[in-house]
Amino acid sequence: MEYENLLTKKGDSIGWVIINRPDKLNALNMNTIKELHEAFLSFKQDHEVRAVILSGSGEKAFVAGADISELAHLDFDSGKKYVLKGQELTTLIENLNKPVIAAVNGYALGGGTELALACHVRIASENAKMGQPEVKLGLIPGFGGTQRLARLVGKGKAMEFVLSGKIIDVQEALRIGLVNQVVSLGDLFPTCEALAREIIANGPLAIEYSIEAMNKGLDRPLEEGLLLEAEFFGKACKTEDSKEGTKAFLEKRKANFQGR
Ligand code: COA
Repeated sequence: MEYENLLTKKGDSIGWVIINRPDKLNALNMNTIKELHEAFLSFKQDHEVRAVILSGSGEKAFVAGADISELAHLDFDSGKKYVLKGQELTTLIENLNKPVIAAVNGYALGGGTELALACHVRIASENAKMGQPEVKLGLIPGFGGTQRLARLVGKGKAMEFVLSGKIIDVQEALRIGLVNQVVSLGDLFPTCEALAREIIANGPLAIEYSIEAMNKGLDRPLEEGLLLEAEFFGKACKTEDSKEGTKAFLEKRKANFQGR
């Protein structure tokens, strides 16, 4: 599909979504949010796509935040409606039935950090910078930053970042667990692709159930989360893939998963 502000492609089981407003450092305007929603929905339903990589075009920015020119005109109702749209997108990404890897290739500020937080894994280039600078605009994070950041790096660090609006370099992001790995800009896409390949060599339903079990279980008491895990484990045991995976191990051969 053709988009105004995105480049998408698919090949070798990987779907690519590249936000393409480099002159505005890939800032998320409403149309880009709408298009991202459409692109992720289409990859969700596409059985040929087993993993998605999300990045920004150019060498400077992943996403430099929500488009500030649009934020300037919001009131209570339109502001709430606007962030609910952004949250719908981040929730769609977080709960996608296949892994989403953020290739953080530069500034990931405000909505950029929030978009990366919704992805299942974040790999960043050495020039990346991250943060939630909304308070500097008299605003607060709205696409999940007050919620997902604390869940990933802990409340103390999240409070520090959200309240100060400070922008951190990638080494600090790595140290606190905000990104999984840091590589050179040139190695960023190959590294993301290699990880995507490693993941999609596994059983597709096992990947889907693992994402769902973690997403649904982590906000519940441990006992409930463990019960949920047991249910997903049972579901995995019912799949043809689990029969094939265990049989292949015992027969000392590579498993041929069908996603059934
Ligand atoms: N919304 C709208 N436009 C943005 C933007 C955003 N979040 N971030 C950058 N841009 C635009 C700039 O206005 C500029 O456009 P122009 O050339 O038409 O003037 C262009 O992108 C390049 O940005 P510029 O500020 O000139 O680049 P820089 O290298 O000097 O600074 C940043 C880079 C990221 C530090 C700076 O752009 C910035 O602070 N952006 C806003 C970050 C932010 O607050 N995000 C959270 C929003 S809720």
